[in-house]
Amino acid sequence: FNEKDQDLINLNTQAAEIFTHLLLNTDLSTEALKYLVETRKLDRATITEFQLGFLPSSWSLHDFFDEKKIPVEIQLASGIISQYDDGSFHDVFSNRIMFPLKDSYGNIVGFSGRTLDKANSAKYINSKETAVFKKSQLLYHFDVAKQAAKLSQHLILLEGYLDVIAAHKVGIDYGVASMGTSLTKDQLQLISRNSPTLTIAYDGDSAGQNATWRAIEEAKKFPHLQLEIVTIPDKKDPDEYLQAKGPAALKQIFEEDSTSINDFAFEYLKQNRNLENPANLSDYTNDLLKFLGSHSNPIANDLTLKKLSDQFGLSRSVLDQSLKQVTAPD
Ligand code: CTP
Ligand code: MN
Ligand code: MN
Ligand code: MN
Ligand code: MN
Repeated sequence: FNEKDQDLINLNTQAAEIFTHLLLNTDLSTEALKYLVETRKLDRATITEFQLGFLPSSWSLHDFFDEKKIPVEIQLASGIISQYDDGSFHDVFSNRIMFPLKDSYGNIVGFSGRTLDKANSAKYINSKETAVFKKSQLLYHFDVAKQAAKLSQHLILLEGYLDVIAAHKVGIDYGVASMGTSLTKDQLQLISRNSPTLTIAYDGDSAGQNATWRAIEEAKKFPHLQLEIVTIPDKKDPDEYLQAKGPAALKQIFEEDSTSINDFAFEYLKQNRNLENPANLSDYTNDLLKFLGSHSNPIANDLTLKKLSDQFGLSRSVLDQSLKQVTAPD
């Protein structure tokens, strides 16, 4: 890092410390702490470990930085203080629960802030992109997860911060989150350099399932990365599933209930199709064959072709022939 980058990281680190202090040790954060402890079932140890915090609306981070003699240019460059048109300063994350975002080495490079009153504003807002914060190059919790992956040989990809924390609660520290954006090449590079296997465990709702499909398409460009898919039942996300079914159930899903990408595609492509209708069945089959042809795993594909043939009474030799056509170079 150059000196300017280091200034931003130092400022973020100081901010994270004060956010955690304000959350845990002052009566300005009673509502936020109650929300985290009672509604989200986080204890103080977990809050401390993940360095969660709160910025009360009655408090001014800008004044705090001024008292610490932090130059206003650095405050503004960090993206956590902003300026109105009239020149006055304000805290971007006022009245939000704070999640520090770290690079692969554990430096705090930015923040995400969660609102307490959903109705009024975006659920999460992030620091603006800065010299040190490039959202598409980061994965939440990667600094810890890459260490845990050395032992588990797995990374689990989740959608949200609280899903990573849910995994941690059941003893799984190799969870990371892509923070709601679609999975990027840079993020996949980080993953594939640190783990032979990636388990995608996005939310069970349709947005999460669509994101899973897109993530598989990206991840296939890394042929050495072994992929597994977890679908959280009942359209829940991992954190909701933990609350509904308990830790043993979530742990089982993560560790034992993963399926292959072919099995995921087999179910996913059925969506919005009435497969009793021959035209729909034929579209479905062609889409699935296209998927099978887009990666090379002959044994997995053999199993899927067998399932396709058995489930829909399709001729195996016609399927084999069609797969060859799909994969043949034009
Ligand atoms: N996200 C975001 N901005 C939003 C909504 C979501 O950046 N307005 C990102 C966050 O990183 C969030 C993730 O996308 O954690 C997943 O989104 P979603 O499933 O909607 O949120 P949850 O993580 O389930 O949020 P919570 O459990 O706190 O309600
Ligand atoms: Mn496995
Ligand atoms: Mn979601
Ligand atoms: Mn979610
Ligand atoms: Mn959630």
